[in-house]
Amino acid sequence: MAANADQIKVLICQGTGGLASGAAAVAEAFEQEVAKQGVEAKVGKRCAVIGTGCRGLCANDVLVDIELPEQEAVTYDFVTPEMVPQIVEEHVLGNEPVAKKMAGPYYAKFLEKQQRIIFSRCGTVDADSLDDFLSHKGFDGIRKAVTMKPEDVIEEVKKSGLRGRGGGGFPTGVKWSFCKASPGDTKYLICNADEGDPGAFMDRSILEGDPYGLIEGMMIAAYAIGCKFAYVYCRAEYPLAIKRLQKAIDTCYEKGFLGKDCLGLGFDLDMRIKAGAGAFVCGEETALMASIEGERGMSRPRPPFPAVRGLWGYPTNINNVETYANVSYIFYNGADWYSSIGTEGTKGTKIFALTGKVKHTGLVEVPAGTSMREVIYDVCGGILNNRKFKAVQAGGPSGGCLPAEALDAQVDYDSLIKAGAMMGSGGLVVMDETTCMVDIARFFLNFTRVESCGKCIPCRIGLKIMLEILERITSGEGREGDLELLEDMAYDIKKSSLCGLGQTAPNPVLSTLRYFRHEYEAHIKEKECPSHGCKPLLHFEVIDEKCKKCGLCYRVCPVDAVRWEKKELAVIDKEKCTKCTSCYDACRFMAIK
Ligand SMILES: Cc1cc2nc3c(=O)[nH]c(=O)nc-3n(C[C@H](O)[C@H](O)[C@H](O)COP(=O)(O)O)c2cc1C
Ligand code: SF4
Ligand code: SF4
Ligand code: FES
Repeated sequence: MAANADQIKVLICQGTGGLASGAAAVAEAFEQEVAKQGVEAKVGKRCAVIGTGCRGLCANDVLVDIELPEQEAVTYDFVTPEMVPQIVEEHVLGNEPVAKKMAGPYYAKFLEKQQRIIFSRCGTVDADSLDDFLSHKGFDGIRKAVTMKPEDVIEEVKKSGLRGRGGGGFPTGVKWSFCKASPGDTKYLICNADEGDPGAFMDRSILEGDPYGLIEGMMIAAYAIGCKFAYVYCRAEYPLAIKRLQKAIDTCYEKGFLGKDCLGLGFDLDMRIKAGAGAFVCGEETALMASIEGERGMSRPRPPFPAVRGLWGYPTNINNVETYANVSYIFYNGADWYSSIGTEGTKGTKIFALTGKVKHTGLVEVPAGTSMREVIYDVCGGILNNRKFKAVQAGGPSGGCLPAEALDAQVDYDSLIKAGAMMGSGGLVVMDETTCMVDIARFFLNFTRVESCGKCIPCRIGLKIMLEILERITSGEGREGDLELLEDMAYDIKKSSLCGLGQTAPNPVLSTLRYFRHEYEAHIKEKECPSHGCKPLLHFEVIDEKCKKCGLCYRVCPVDAVRWEKKELAVIDKEKCTKCTSCYDACRFMAIK
């Protein structure tokens, strides 16, 4: 983005990732240095040090953009307070970017295939500033929506093709029309900001980086459906998101943008945040509503669906953070513009959270239909340490593991389901050749078992039994018939559980059985873990062909069980070895099996 002529901007990521990496100290250093070097007097322009939301490349925080008047922004990564004097002196004053400290070519690659719509204000504006929001289309969407009849607003959302980003992909306009059609004057609007999928943090980033954008999307929904009261249900583990959103809500009340006669546009809307205690099941809509009502977060049978009988028995519309954020942009630019992005069945962009064995972890926003390969290799730089890609878990604990053969699958709702996974909230956990797929299934199943609300037996007891089977397989105690038993139980639990948690929890087991059955069989029949990832199945032998003779294992062994001489292969003395796994963890060449 080229800065306007009247000021210099120093944009510092102050998302959770930025702050955890020391963004507050970096901001302070810039403030001090700008004053100390007399930047404003020398240049004759204001130099604003601005805290922004997440930029996506969180692993490289602290990210700083310097925008000089009428010039493209220059990005620095891994910025520390010590680097600031040089950047101010050479770049801000001298107009000579400090090449050695700039983000490498990977940053341009990281952005190249992205289409940052929902994130367009995250990382570029001051998240706390209403004025900044207003000067970036803020509230243009609701102003346009109120010129239309509520039912036409719903038609526009239907026409855009927007589908819910919370996981299920239900068409948003259709959902709104159900709630609107329910009789009664009291209706609630809920934003689901529970975001319980491990590794997913796109909703948090929207809340931290563009809280007014979310409020606007919710205003449009409230106007269309006829809701006068809205809740944002956000987990208490997101204190920065809650703080920024609360500040934005308070500012909107002060300015008359929320409350009675919002923005003077003739409709009323009150908005409140409800902090949840961070249970995965509370992201499920009926458990979420129970939690707002002050009950224990447990799922309830559907039907009745929330649109008919929701919060406190009244018709309720519930959507995800990213869904509401999309709505604002549909009304800035029109349904036709929106539906021109993406694929036939999935319109718009989708934000993905990449974690695991990938070079550049973080958040990426790509048009639906981009391939998994492009996301992992082109945007995120490929596999860490140039290892071999093995699988990607798409859709969080309810999703599935896709193998290399599925790398060309498009990221859209239908293609991912066809491939055996799901979009879910957009979590992508990338795995390399060192990851054991049985252990991964065990990991996710353990997560859902712990998070089960316990209301229905298939989920409460069934997942526990499935987990016990997986635990015995990964510890070398697997038996003939275990895989068939796992499959039978998985389908039964999916069929008979009350809510989506139990109905999807077996998915990681089923998808790894579909694509990596041979790994399960090796554990059971040969008592081998082909990835050497299950520690109880390690033999503590050095693989001669892989050993680089570095002697690291020799140095870390606490009981002198490793024999090694310079330029010689290491050898483990099994008599002395206590199987502590230190050598296995230390070896960088996977040379111990
Ligand atoms: C176990 C479970 C956890 C869920 N967690 C979330 C969540 O964290 N955020 C979310 O938006 N939807 C979550 N959902 C989906 C919600 O129930 C609901 O479908 C969604 O909020 C609807 O919004 P959308 O139509 O905008 O996608 C979860 C569903 C299940 C079964
Ligand atoms: S499926 Fe699991 S989480 Fe859902 S109601 Fe049953 S026990 Fe609770
Ligand atoms: S497992 Fe522990 S005790 Fe055995 S060789 Fe390795 S470091 Fe030594
Ligand atoms: S929090 Fe700084 S880039 Fe994500």
